[in-house]
Amino acid sequence: MNFTNRVNRVQESLTIGMSRKARELKAEGKDIISLSLGEPDFDTPDHIKKAALAALEAGKTKYPPVGGIPELKKAICEKFKRESNLSFTPQEVMVCTGAKQCIMNVMLILVQPGDEVVIPLPYWVSYSEMVNFAGGKSVFVPAKFEDEFAIDISALKAAVNNNTKVIIFSSPSNPAGSLLNKEQLSEIADIVAMNPQLTIISDEIYEHINFEGKHISISQFEKIRNQLVIINGVSKAFAMTGWRLGYMAGPKELIATCDKLQGQFTSGANSIAQWAAVEALNADMKPTEKMVEVFKQRRDLMIELLKEVPGMEIDVPKGAFYLFPRISSFYGKMLNGVTINSSLDFCNYILDEALVALVPGVAFGMDDHVRISYASKESDLREAVSRIKKALTQ
Ligand SMILES: Cc1ncc(COP(=O)(O)O)c(C=O)c1O
Repeated sequence: MNFTNRVNRVQESLTIGMSRKARELKAEGKDIISLSLGEPDFDTPDHIKKAALAALEAGKTKYPPVGGIPELKKAICEKFKRESNLSFTPQEVMVCTGAKQCIMNVMLILVQPGDEVVIPLPYWVSYSEMVNFAGGKSVFVPAKFEDEFAIDISALKAAVNNNTKVIIFSSPSNPAGSLLNKEQLSEIADIVAMNPQLTIISDEIYEHINFEGKHISISQFEKIRNQLVIINGVSKAFAMTGWRLGYMAGPKELIATCDKLQGQFTSGANSIAQWAAVEALNADMKPTEKMVEVFKQRRDLMIELLKEVPGMEIDVPKGAFYLFPRISSFYGKMLNGVTINSSLDFCNYILDEALVALVPGVAFGMDDHVRISYASKESDLREAVSRIKKALTQ
């Protein structure tokens, strides 16, 4: 069969690729610890599950409206008002099958061949592949480990030209767990405001998994309101990855156009998941706060444990549930007969020798790093680091 250029431009996600390899080894009976996936290990809180059961029992099993049930749109508008003092009407918000579909919808309606999308490093794996699918070109803006992965504002400015249609970033970030501060966001907002052809996609899916206090969003800058799309969802904050429910807010015409597109592809997101999300957004945030507390303890534990691994350079992430250490000090070295020259070599070595699955930094545009997810129980984290240490000090 011949497949389209469009799909041939898209690569398989290395995170999914790595976990498949880990699963295959597991199926062979190997005792694999996977620190490669981006999902909380907690179960969805009970009150949310109960809301889903009640929706099932009430027969909410028909096609929902393409852009989301009115009750969920209302809950989303209220959430923005309550938490960020932002006013959105239901016509300015939309519900999709995960934040992933929100982003894809926006890319497909804004980006076409010849267009450029500016993506600061390190970036979430899917951004550039979505740009590839849409036929656009990704332009990457470098970042440094030493600067805690802050966006290099002058490089960002230099990367923007008349062909730039979109800037996309996540804060808190996947993979580095870094946060953009108010000053950096203000500088980015200035660049956006000076380029009216530009839309900024602010991916705030890790908003609540923030160890520094209140989330700071670029949405506070009113002057870019007509050029801004905010992406969010229930996957990370409410341990609801499998429910596949995301949402976004943006200008009315943009939302209406995404609604048109989604209506021909997938229709409305799962109805039961939408009712569960109404409960998640309207209810008390205590279960989320508890999860965040555990993530913070695990982050601190991992930093302590990994300090004992010579050659691994670690910074202190401020949010999300990943570490993104620099591992390039191992490059050129031979470990147990294997020469390590890239983050992929490093991850393959660690998987084969330590039976621990990590994700190579190259998947996020920074080949000197690896991503370690600490969304796993403490005993697994301890065992994983002990094995990594043994494999690297052999
Ligand atoms: C930065 C970022 N954005 C979006 C998503 C997608 O989230 P969802 O599960 O809502 O599709 C992820 C998931 O890993 C992510 O890390």
